[in-house]
Amino acid sequence: MALRPAAPADLSHLRRWDQDPDVRASLIDSDWHWETELHRQPAWREWFIAEVDGRPIGFIQIIDPEHEESQYWGCMKAGHRAIDIWIGEPEARGRGYGAQMMEQAIERCFADPSVHTILIDPLESNTRSHRFYENLGFEYVVCRTFGDDRCSVYKLTRPDDTRGHA
Ligand SMILES: CC(C)(COP(=O)(O)OP(=O)(O)OC[C@H]1O[C@@H](n2cnc3c(N)ncnc32)[C@H](O)[C@@H]1OP(=O)(O)O)[C@@H](O)C(=O)NCCC(=O)NCCS
Repeated sequence: MALRPAAPADLSHLRRWDQDPDVRASLIDSDWHWETELHRQPAWREWFIAEVDGRPIGFIQIIDPEHEESQYWGCMKAGHRAIDIWIGEPEARGRGYGAQMMEQAIERCFADPSVHTILIDPLESNTRSHRFYENLGFEYVVCRTFGDDRCSVYKLTRPDDTRGHA
């Protein structure tokens, strides 16, 4: 499994994955405006496509919630990242690729020494994904409502961090 930056040519599989029942059931915002957004590279966001043997299987987003344009996470201090992930190809799930994607994304986030906490917000109903994140070391923080959706917020803090961030 390898991550590479998403590009406009990824539009067709991203659109197809949007129709997958498991992906649809797991997403809060169903319209990611791929047609326009794949041409933008704002400084607060990174988009990656996961490939296995050169074949795209999934997507991962890393954002800096302090600077993200919609202020989805509210008013955030510096030092956080937030991740969204999905494997769009059903037969590629449950084979450890998701864990590898997250491990690479986590390493990327903590490569910036100013980053102390990574956040994720799976839907409260997506209990299988909660286990997935817990197995990666994420800790449950709080149930929070974003729009109409109840989400379980989890955090992973930098392993060597002793600064005691909330
Ligand atoms: C969640 C997801 C990224 C995990 O990646 P993966 O490669 O399937 O997971 P791994 O093989 O590394 O780890 C297996 C664990 O992932 C989780 N998982 C596996 N398939 C899943 C699915 N269809 N939906 C949700 N979680 C799933 C389970 O916790 C599983 O452990 P279990 O077999 O003990 O239940 C992937 O399954 C997926 O994209 N699911 C659909 C969309 C989704 O739920 N995205 C997360 C949004 S918060």
